[in-house]
Amino acid sequence: MQVYRGWLFGAVLALTGVAHGAGDPEKGKLIVTAGDGSGAPCVACHGLDGAGNDLAGFPRLAGMDAGYLVKQVRDYRSGARKSAVMSPNVDDLNDDQIADVAAYYAALDTAPTSLPSGAPGTLALGEALATKGDWDHYIVPCETCHGPGNVGVGSDFPKLAGQHPTYIKQQLKAWKTGTRNNDPNHLMLAIAGRLTETQIEAVAAWLARQDPKGGK
Ligand code: HEC
Ligand code: HEC
Repeated sequence: MQVYRGWLFGAVLALTGVAHGAGDPEKGKLIVTAGDGSGAPCVACHGLDGAGNDLAGFPRLAGMDAGYLVKQVRDYRSGARKSAVMSPNVDDLNDDQIADVAAYYAALDTAPTSLPSGAPGTLALGEALATKGDWDHYIVPCETCHGPGNVGVGSDFPKLAGQHPTYIKQQLKAWKTGTRNNDPNHLMLAIAGRLTETQIEAVAAWLARQDPKGGK
């Protein structure tokens, strides 16, 4: 186990990194198409290209950090993160297989998502939240943790740029209601709890339209 320690806003955060060996993307591809032996194969929902599906609420996995993906799949397997749709598909994977499947999706290229242009007012509100925050309501800018361009930082802070808006909204609401609570130090729970429905809508719409690679 690696332990990262960092200072954020005067608080010491001890984030526990997931210890994992580098997976084998070739073996991962076989699991993506075959599944874990009992559930549905990943390809059925996340696609071979890791694009996911906005309307269905299937997240895009292409180009996300392998360590982050490993942590999430392990959390579904252990029940630390709950999803009746997801958990049965990964509960029979061993640690090596999880590393392999994560390595496969992490290595895929991420073409920007094509979405219809959003309402300017909504996008402006979303951009302000993501880049400047809402200090009157103790909401730190998303990019403080999720990195410049919200493309993610290491294995602890996932990429949000280019993620599907439906999925982003679902996750923020899951933290707000407490159904997702597997985040280190409950960093997200605290933030999502303070976001209004309008802010959730706006920040999801803006983030989804950003370049996953951080380009303008
Ligand atoms: C039946 C559809 C379905 C299948 C099959 C499926 N998933 Fe998922 N996956 C989902 C849904 C829905 C979510 C979001 C669930 C939630 O809200 O936590 C998800 C979430 C995830 C996440 C979290 C992503 C993030 O950004 O936090 C990972 C990682 C993941 N799936 C990997 C896999 C892998 C690996 C497989 C195959 C072994 C797989 N999934 C099979 C539907 C599916
Ligand atoms: C203090 C640090 C911090 C800030 C600020 C922050 N986040 Fe997060 N966020 C995290 C961490 C840590 C995770 C990963 C949780 C886990 O490992 O399960 C996360 C995960 C997420 C996820 C889930 C991504 C996925 O793939 O499942 C979403 C969506 C999200 N954050 C949205 C936001 C938005 C929107 C903002 C700004 C309004 C924001 N975050 C600000 C720390 C932060």
